Amino acid sequence: MEVKNDEQQHKPVLLEEVLEALSIVEDGIYIDCTFGRGGHTRAMLEQLGDQGRLIAIDRDPEAIKVGRALESEDPRFSIEQEAFSALKTIADQKGITGKVNGILFDLGVSSPQLDDADRGFSFMREGPLDMRMDPDQSTSAADWLATATDREMVRVFSEYGEERFSRRIARAIIATRGETPIKTTKQLAELIREVTPDMSKPGQKSIHPATRVFQAIRIFINDELGEIKTVLDQALEILAPGGRLAVISFHSLEDRIVKRFMKKAAAGDDYPRELPIPASMMNPTMKIIGKMIKAGKEELAENPRSRSATLRVAEKVPT
Ligand SMILES: C[S@@+](CC[C@H](N)C(=O)[O-])C[C@H]1O[C@@H](n2cnc3c(N)ncnc32)[C@H](O)[C@@H]1O
Repeated sequence: MEVKNDEQQHKPVLLEEVLEALSIVEDGIYIDCTFGRGGHTRAMLEQLGDQGRLIAIDRDPEAIKVGRALESEDPRFSIEQEAFSALKTIADQKGITGKVNGILFDLGVSSPQLDDADRGFSFMREGPLDMRMDPDQSTSAADWLATATDREMVRVFSEYGEERFSRRIARAIIATRGETPIKTTKQLAELIREVTPDMSKPGQKSIHPATRVFQAIRIFINDELGEIKTVLDQALEILAPGGRLAVISFHSLEDRIVKRFMKKAAAGDDYPRELPIPASMMNPTMKIIGKMIKAGKEELAENPRSRSATLRVAEKVPT
């Protein structure tokens, strides 16, 4: 595998806001759970002193290659090729559980993943219908579409893509695959376009009818929501008291999980509502820092990806 060209760079979103949110301590320990091309990591390293440490995680081998190059240049940095649900295991192995000053998640896929036709994430580029962030993982999108039941597809398209025409699309997939296997991105995109009505309104920018199904399959194949649900408790556990958690999400399904987690941790113990428990006895584990943050005008103008980004920040409360 070669490192892909410049066209496939990734512009880090909400960079200034993330740095402010993490409020970097010079000799602190930080974890970037979604290294990508290291945009956030590099900016964090710039603020860290000689004794600081930054550990990154990514499950994509292309990201790991970039990370390995950075590892050889900067002794404060190291990277792990893992799903981030291995966060606690990694922290335990490194002996940093309870000592981490900041953890960043910049969820979803990177621009280089989307731009590389061979990865099959985009319906705009003809390529194998793959969509695995970690190509060593067993099931690709094409494998799944070859065997998924009608019910399973309807659930995935509706739940993860909020697709109105899930049934129609699932039926068309089953009819088509009986004759020809669905193996490429454009094949699937075209099939979806053929069976869904044109919902665009005059004067409104229309989105491609395959957008929602592609998002849904990607989320399902990579168990994206399961990964987030699993890792948030681990993040809280490995943070040092006063350590910060910053999460950037790109759609409401992710953001809802993050928001609920932070709200629950900030509310503390789960007593029945009717019990008159004073706030001082609620034992919150986190404090929410500020409101959710969206990209400003300038960033929106220069990076369209930032349009759907939402940053939420919380701090571990000393116990
Ligand atoms: C939006 S990009 C991050 C970009 C990065 N912040 C930068 O500035 O270059 C998300 C990255 O996280 C990785 N990723 C997403 N979910 C993951 C998971 N559950 N475990 C490990 N890596 C994951 C993807 O492979 C991708 O490289």
